Amino acid sequence: MSNSKIQIRLVETFTDNETQKAMDVWRKAYKDDPFVRAVTGGDPELYEKFIHSVLLATSRGGKVYFASYADVEVAGVSAWYPPGRIFGDTPEQSKGGFDELFEGADPELKKWWLDYIPKFDAQTTAALGEGVKLASWHLMFIGVLPDIQHRGIGTALVNHVKQIADAEGKVLCVETGTEVDVKFYEYCGFFIKGPVVEYENPTQNFSMWVLSTEKD
Ligand SMILES: CC(C)(COP(=O)(O)OP(=O)(O)OC[C@H]1O[C@@H](n2cnc3c(N)ncnc32)[C@H](O)[C@@H]1OP(=O)(O)O)[C@@H](O)C(=O)NCCC(=O)NCCS
Repeated sequence: MSNSKIQIRLVETFTDNETQKAMDVWRKAYKDDPFVRAVTGGDPELYEKFIHSVLLATSRGGKVYFASYADVEVAGVSAWYPPGRIFGDTPEQSKGGFDELFEGADPELKKWWLDYIPKFDAQTTAALGEGVKLASWHLMFIGVLPDIQHRGIGTALVNHVKQIADAEGKVLCVETGTEVDVKFYEYCGFFIKGPVVEYENPTQNFSMWVLSTEKD
């Protein structure tokens, strides 16, 4: 069901204003996210830098959509890699973002990242199949302002890209870390792929599910 209060738009140029508005949504939406907490060692400064690095990378290499809701100009933000693009496929995605974040991180956290990344990649490949993530619309981040969640904004952000993907004959995929998010994605038409994997982390252990809109 479409909701006329919700409008979705692709944002191609990020002014400071757009960056601040997107950051405000994601900062609030991801406040208690176990994955972001784990990968930043629970450090609030790194938390902020991590979220900013995702925005920088996806605005340079992917597609970022804003949802407005009634008079709330930026109520939700989703960031995707379209088919053929993937996180980190050009050095410019990480410049001023992940590169600096990684360089400045605590050695123990850095060691953890280097151990985690290949395991995470292996989980996704085993769940989806070789090359499937690259061939799909990959959802990197999605967040809706907590005060106005459960009003269909998250679904509208996903459906917008699903329509594009359907027209291209492509599927959507995502990795996510909480059962609540899994429920949301199932509601949006995703299916769980492969087993949930538990990852150990010095700050917070977390789970990871892989989902896609392709039926088995
Ligand atoms: C996930 C998120 C984007 C969903 O946005 P939303 O605007 O609330 O989603 P919708 O209103 O379209 O919800 C659609 C349906 O998904 C399910 N759902 C969404 N949030 C849920 C929750 N917290 N608990 C259980 N089910 C939920 C419900 O079935 C819901 O329908 P209902 O509200 O009629 O029951 C939002 O909760 C969010 O920003 N979460 C924090 C950030 C995050 O975890 N992002 C995903 C990480 S990969």
